[in-house]
Amino acid sequence: MIKSNRHLSWAEPYKIKMVELVHMTTRAEREQAIKKAAFNTFLLRSKEVYIDLLTDSGTSAMSDMQWAGMMRGDEAYAGSENFYHLEAAVRKYYGYKYVIPTHQGRGAENIISKIMIKPGDFVPGNMYFTTTRLHQELAGGTFVDIVIDEAHDAENEHPFKGNVDLKKLDALIKKVGAKKIPYVCIATAVNMAGGQPISMENLRALRELTKKHKIPIIHDMTRVAENAYFIQRREKGYADKPVAAIIKEICSLTDGATMSAKKDALVNIGGILAMNSKKIYEEASNMVVVYEGLHTYGGLAGRDMEAMAIGITESVQDDHIRARVGQVEYLGNKMIAAGIPIVKPVGGHGVFLNAKKFLPHLDQSVYPAQTLAAEIYLDSGVRSMERGIVSAGRQKETGVEHRPNLELVRLTIPRRVYTQAHMDVVFESVASVFDDRKKIGGLKMVYEPKYLRFFQARFAKI
Ligand code: F0G
Repeated sequence: MIKSNRHLSWAEPYKIKMVELVHMTTRAEREQAIKKAAFNTFLLRSKEVYIDLLTDSGTSAMSDMQWAGMMRGDEAYAGSENFYHLEAAVRKYYGYKYVIPTHQGRGAENIISKIMIKPGDFVPGNMYFTTTRLHQELAGGTFVDIVIDEAHDAENEHPFKGNVDLKKLDALIKKVGAKKIPYVCIATAVNMAGGQPISMENLRALRELTKKHKIPIIHDMTRVAENAYFIQRREKGYADKPVAAIIKEICSLTDGATMSAKKDALVNIGGILAMNSKKIYEEASNMVVVYEGLHTYGGLAGRDMEAMAIGITESVQDDHIRARVGQVEYLGNKMIAAGIPIVKPVGGHGVFLNAKKFLPHLDQSVYPAQTLAAEIYLDSGVRSMERGIVSAGRQKETGVEHRPNLELVRLTIPRRVYTQAHMDVVFESVASVFDDRKKIGGLKMVYEPKYLRFFQARFAKI
């Protein structure tokens, strides 16, 4: 953003050229639909949804330039021109030397986990993410949470709740030895904490500590632009640095990255695995052939890679990211003003309702966040998702349920899709559910799938 415009509010730096009609439903239709979906918002059909805040993943609106880029798809099996555009964009904006496309983020997670993790290893990270941790476990590793304690407290207003507690990492190194730690996994704009950033100062200190022990840092850069924007706003010395420069600095403090390009990079499908080590690149570019496709397409069409290259460029612009986070904060601030309990500070990609406080009469064993997401859908057709005990799943060794402190409902805002008026309706619906919250009863799980249960679990009213 041009600095002289900072006195203006965050209005979108684009205008609308095409619209997609959405469906409005009656309460009776929604009652049918949520019952059929077994009270899991992942099992609703999208035509049953009015405002879809399930996820910001793959749901963003592409620009006219991205759509034009789709027409320039070079659909060669090998060496597509679009791959080289993508590679150039990654090098220019993120700075990693080598890049391999993947069909989405978890494709990259699978490959890096298989290459770097050996059975018996420990993988520390600044809070777990569902697919990331699962791939670490499937490779034989054990995830260890090293995020600061503040991140597990919805109300704590620490400006960088994505920070690593270096003492926790140090203790792990002392306990298991650096040789058993293949890498530290660092997410920017930590999703499960509510889209909370890590500070540059903390990342720099982490780099120092890991360097001493020769432990690499792998960066989950799915929402790196949002993180960079918070650094610009909150961290000393960064107010006048463009978001693009901050992103590059973050990446420079890490050794490699996985990215779901379906979020900050503004595409409907795609991901990348990037790194500076030639040795790991060579292994990964061979392994990608097994799971995704040749190393110059990784499961994507040429047109998808072109859209991603352009999306990366658009995503690092200051005016874009200011409006993106501005809209999320607009919704969050309305909730705060109305006394509705949410995760604070408001994060980068959504507003997270604190279901433990919203429904204090429900024990975590009856899935308060799952219940609340279903109730909001019933009220208005707004679709959100559970981020609590259901998402957390079970412990790898014992099968005992994780009981995360955070029991949240995520109202995730797709990029460039909804208007301020939509945000008002979302607020109105959550406020009306809040008024009637005492009448809400819990759920029981009647079907539990083995992997990533939150996607497909089925529930019934108690
Ligand atoms: N890492 C983070 C931080 C994510 O948020 C996601 C996806 C992934 C990795 C995996 O990427 O979906 O492209 O395979 N998060 C989505 C969400 C699903 O709704 O938060 P993917």
